Amino acid sequence: MVQHSLNWTHRMSRRIVTVLDRTISDFGRQRLAELIRESGDAPQRAVATADRINDSLNALANLAYRMPRYNDDWLALFYALWYQPKQINVAYRAIHGMRASRGLQAGNLISGQRLHIVDFGSGSLAMLFATALAVADALHRGEHLDSVRIDCIDNEEMIWTGALILEHFRQIVEQQDELGPLRDALESIHWEVNGIEQVTQAVQFEEDTERWFSALHVVYSDNMTEIAPAIHAMRATDPFVAFFTSFALKENLVRQVARPFEGAPYLPVERVQHAPHLGLTGVLTNTTNLRREIANLERLRPHLSETSVNFLTGRRSNVDCEPQSTFYRIYLRQ
Ligand SMILES: C[S@@+](CC[C@H](N)C(=O)[O-])C[C@H]1O[C@@H](n2cnc3c(N)ncnc32)[C@H](O)[C@@H]1O
Repeated sequence: MVQHSLNWTHRMSRRIVTVLDRTISDFGRQRLAELIRESGDAPQRAVATADRINDSLNALANLAYRMPRYNDDWLALFYALWYQPKQINVAYRAIHGMRASRGLQAGNLISGQRLHIVDFGSGSLAMLFATALAVADALHRGEHLDSVRIDCIDNEEMIWTGALILEHFRQIVEQQDELGPLRDALESIHWEVNGIEQVTQAVQFEEDTERWFSALHVVYSDNMTEIAPAIHAMRATDPFVAFFTSFALKENLVRQVARPFEGAPYLPVERVQHAPHLGLTGVLTNTTNLRREIANLERLRPHLSETSVNFLTGRRSNVDCEPQSTFYRIYLRQ
């Protein structure tokens, strides 16, 4: 418990959430203007644009049940305007649970000085943001990390969206003296976009490099057969940690797809559930307001479905960092 309250991220949560809110809402506003401009001025275009929005929001509302078509500009935008802060917390709590279970000396994050993560289905780069927060905690505790590398695997639209948000976030963090550890953490992370084949071939096996594999909220019944070979390929590289998460109702799918990590030398981590208060907390006010504005755009409003309007403005439409009910399955190599 004492160790929890010492986490730099948790103590700075309010400030970090303010920066994240500014970042996501600035990005969202710009992207919205671009997408509306691209869709054209003619009155009939308003119907087509509203249809695209309706489709994306409908797909996201059913995210827990069916895999949306993620390589889509509107969907990537709305994913950022709702799920990204929640998913950063999912990833952060997963990392924290792993660290607490290991109990390294001085509460260190890793046992060597170099970290290499392969993040599969990195979408809005939630794992990258969360790693930056965990590294900021580590730097603040006095841990020394030589380098952090993340290979991100996903489609173009989702990665590109995450990259724009990350760059904007970095620029705002740089201007805030109190966020020094986060600025240093972001500077220490080198990230690349890659395919699973290239990554598995290029995995670094250096003695002092600790390797993690993460597959956060990637598993759907629709893509089980597609992703299974990638999970097997990563298991063959013997990562030190493997992180899997999903909506709680997909627990069975995750257990199925994570099977290569069942049994020795891997043991499941049990402590994530005990840290639900950790990480980022609070409402992203500007992002919430932007969602309301989108629902009230004069041209589009008459063509938006009731589901869309409700999702953007309804009773539960506040954008916060609280993940929806989440299943964590994390394996630690013994
Ligand atoms: C719900 S999002 C989660 C994104 C991110 N991990 C997070 O936690 O915010 C699922 C992501 O998995 C990606 N995905 C699904 N099937 C995939 C596949 N076969 N290969 C790579 N990425 C995939 C999707 O494109 C999408 O970005």
